[in-house]
Amino acid sequence: MYVLGIETSCDETSVAIVDDKRTIVVNHVLSQLKEHEAFGGVVPEIAARAHMDHLDTLIRAAMSDSGLGFKDLDGVAATCGPGLIGGVMVGMMAGKAIAVAHDLPFIAVNHLEGHALTPRLTDDLAFPYLLLLISGGHTQILVAEDIGKYKRLGTTLDDAAGECFDKSAKLMGLPYPGGPQLEKMAEKCADPEKAAARFPLPLPMKGRKNCDFSFSGLKTAVRNHVEKLPEGPLQPEDIADLACAFQITMGEILVDRCEQAIEGFLQQYKPKTPTLVISGGVSANMAIRKALQALTSHHGMDLYAPPLELCSDNAAMIAWAGLERLQKGLTDDFDFKARPRWPLDRSIDLGTAPRQGARTNK
Ligand code: KG4
Ligand code: ZN
Repeated sequence: MYVLGIETSCDETSVAIVDDKRTIVVNHVLSQLKEHEAFGGVVPEIAARAHMDHLDTLIRAAMSDSGLGFKDLDGVAATCGPGLIGGVMVGMMAGKAIAVAHDLPFIAVNHLEGHALTPRLTDDLAFPYLLLLISGGHTQILVAEDIGKYKRLGTTLDDAAGECFDKSAKLMGLPYPGGPQLEKMAEKCADPEKAAARFPLPLPMKGRKNCDFSFSGLKTAVRNHVEKLPEGPLQPEDIADLACAFQITMGEILVDRCEQAIEGFLQQYKPKTPTLVISGGVSANMAIRKALQALTSHHGMDLYAPPLELCSDNAAMIAWAGLERLQKGLTDDFDFKARPRWPLDRSIDLGTAPRQGARTNK
């Protein structure tokens, strides 16, 4: 069984084909870095236009590199939300057009489910697992119970983790995209302990008996530190120290929030192989992986982090989510509407304190 996947929800145009033996036949990802660099962030209209300009070529390349014809496909999956609506519509309409023209089933994929199911594509991981979704637009802790069945334990009350990386990097004068740049600078820090003492940063929500996140205080603290440094461009040693202190703090925040979820998850689900999965762009960060590895080892759990090329947005995860849905007979009508917001599930409480004033981030 072969499924074609299309991803256009943010600033990556991507087309992939996967099969039911978990083979990624092709996965072409075209990043729009150059288009958005001058603006210091993703401009929705520019992103939508760039998807329109490149998607056809990418689909042709994926088909020709796979050695398959449209008649060999069993379905077409496209991200239909959440994301920047103009871009989502470009990919969704292309997917529907291919499905109509070749009489194939169409599968409307939730981008977050793509991230959530990545460990099943790469490692055949069994349900249920605990999932920390950390990307540019989302920060959530969920239990993945089955295809289309997710329980949300917590979400961010303000910024997403990736957004906090990007905004903090910008404050340090680092170019877009900030997350990976900040990680590179942090690696240059000579003495992480000294850096953390030099730039103390807050741990928002620390110890709270729920799984929600908040990052705006962390970003503000970075701004305050930057403003206290001598005027003009920051010195590389100062950036390295501040970036390192930031990463240590981000790791501590994620560990503290996941810790709140682990006990309830283990008690309620009693999984055979207890696993914490991290997914989304920020899961590429090595310092974050290390911090969470220590946490999972402490609790006798496995940590799963995707291979680097599948951490950030890609169509292989969309094709795979589509394939898993298709196998269950979960296909969609051609009048399916693109959704700028599309939560994976409502929130639940695993015996932790009630969440107050929480709102979903998409
Ligand atoms: O999942 P993703 O590609 O797109 C969304 O769905 O949002 O995540 C992009 C986010 C950006 O905020 C980017 O700065 C962050 O992931 N990111 C990183 C790293 N690589 C990407 N953050 C920290 N360290 C990294 N190495
Ligand atoms: Zn994503």
